Amino acid sequence: MCGIVGIVGDRPVAERLVDALKRLEYRGYDSAGVATIRDGKLERRRAEGKLFNLETKLHAEPLAGDIGIAHTRWATHGAPTETNAHPHFTDGVAVVHNGIIENFSEIKDELIAAGASFSTQTDTEVVAQLLARYRRDGMEPRQAMQTMLQRVTGAYALAVLFHDLPDTIMAARSGPPLAVGYGKGEMFLGSDAIALAPFTNEITYLIDGDWAILDRKGVAIFDHDGNRVERPKQVSVAAAYMVDKGNHRHFMEKEIYQQPEVISHALGHYVDLIENRINTNALAIDFASVQSLALSACGTAYLAGLVGKYWFERYARLPVEADVASEFRYRDIPLSKNAAALFISQSGETADTLASLRYCKDEGLKIGAVVNVRESTIARESDAVFPIMAGPEIGVASTKAFTCQLSVLAALAIGAGRARGTISQLEENRLVRHLAEMPRIMSKVLNTIQPKMESLARELSKCSDVLYLGRGTSFPLAMEGALKLKEISYIHAEGYAAGELKHGPIALIDENMPVIVIAPHDRFFEKTVSNMQEVAARGGRIIFITDEKGAAASKLETMSTIVLPNVDEIIAPMIFSLPIQLLAYHTAVFMGTDVDQPRNLAKSVTVE
Ligand code: G6P
Repeated sequence: MCGIVGIVGDRPVAERLVDALKRLEYRGYDSAGVATIRDGKLERRRAEGKLFNLETKLHAEPLAGDIGIAHTRWATHGAPTETNAHPHFTDGVAVVHNGIIENFSEIKDELIAAGASFSTQTDTEVVAQLLARYRRDGMEPRQAMQTMLQRVTGAYALAVLFHDLPDTIMAARSGPPLAVGYGKGEMFLGSDAIALAPFTNEITYLIDGDWAILDRKGVAIFDHDGNRVERPKQVSVAAAYMVDKGNHRHFMEKEIYQQPEVISHALGHYVDLIENRINTNALAIDFASVQSLALSACGTAYLAGLVGKYWFERYARLPVEADVASEFRYRDIPLSKNAAALFISQSGETADTLASLRYCKDEGLKIGAVVNVRESTIARESDAVFPIMAGPEIGVASTKAFTCQLSVLAALAIGAGRARGTISQLEENRLVRHLAEMPRIMSKVLNTIQPKMESLARELSKCSDVLYLGRGTSFPLAMEGALKLKEISYIHAEGYAAGELKHGPIALIDENMPVIVIAPHDRFFEKTVSNMQEVAARGGRIIFITDEKGAAASKLETMSTIVLPNVDEIIAPMIFSLPIQLLAYHTAVFMGTDVDQPRNLAKSVTVE
């Protein structure tokens, strides 16, 4: 993770660098730093903690200079201290890095044996030390850069300053994304186009193995062997996505309430609302010729994929293998050439998901990507891109991206069913009509359940453990509910298939343990109610999230019952996501945590 940015400017850059870092803070926020060159000397300011601390420091001790690089960190090697914060300096070389230098320990030992002394615990410092050593050996900066890149292995996006090159930033990419931006007499570098959005919308993405030299006039890009290469310049749409919290306390709250609107956009792309059919031109994968689907993702996106698995199997009769990407990539899965692979990622940059994608590509599979960021690496490397159209999601805990992913997966599963002849046109019409109703029902639910969720959250904030249960598509939703709660409130929570209750988690149940049961009145309802009986019999406190039919049918005493409208099974996961999101949100607010930037997490995880 980590965010990096650089400016070769025609005026002072420190303030603009910090401004760009703010838009990259979703990538990490445990420390930050800026370096500039002034009168042939490198200078830096660094601070532990949120960017605010760096801003305070810069306010007290401003940093001059028309060229600079900056970094916001998510620690991998070395604690999140000021000493370990980037930029790292060694003898006139400054480096910021996103990724992991995998052979750092071997290089470090070698450099120490040759007399170097290290001042940080980071893997990144070896980059600065190697460059400084090559310069001492008499290499020009460009040669030093290329030699260093041939020595290091692993994942990196790098930006480098040399104190004696006051007009130049060098950059390199192997793994994590890096975008070059074009200004008027200025050049920019950033981990994504949103970071650069106020400065320019003309962007070139470096591809893996590229490195680049930026000066005020432009950029020269080289491949790993040092050959000059051309990469396309494109107009980024990121500027349209500049965001603020509006009237909301947190981005997460704003994003929860945006869901009806963004889902309408997504549906508009996939659904023909006049004919009540799926837009076949939005499908882009020939599902009729596919025999199975390999589905892979991380975190919340993976849980959306698990819901999708139920749908593809039910409506398209398509067998689905669903895996977390960190396992998928190393599992040596025997993949049939007639399989398609589907990757789900909000950011489109998650390292494990990208590696799984490349594995499937090497195996010759057709690749589809359900992504939010259309300019992302995962989108660029896929054969078919299915945008979720959620707009920028800033809160680290995913909400609107999750329900947009679900909506797109539902549309794809119905479309696949249509292509494979496993659902009739009447059934397609019926399902699409339900999808089309979703934004209206979501608005209604959001307008009514908030006070109840808030008072329930007050109770939940006093607990140390919470169990979520569900069957069918409500099972992945139970896991998502637990994930959301633990991510932002730090309360321990687990999501279980309700049928598994008796195989372990039932041992945890006592009068202190709230059990949140997600149970629309669907095919599994009676069975879930039996599991609730088992909880009640052991004194467990039940929070029952159901619909009107479910509430009428269940005679059980609960700590609280949240009643949602009766909806069709195809949209229940999206509608039932709303109470679990609000419950986690309000619990975190009561706990006083940093809702949008919870501890230890980052929104985009570009390391393994
Ligand atoms: C991180 C984020 C999660 C997200 C996961 C996958 O863990 O904190 O919210 O679900 O990465 O990210 P992606 O961008 O691939 O959906």
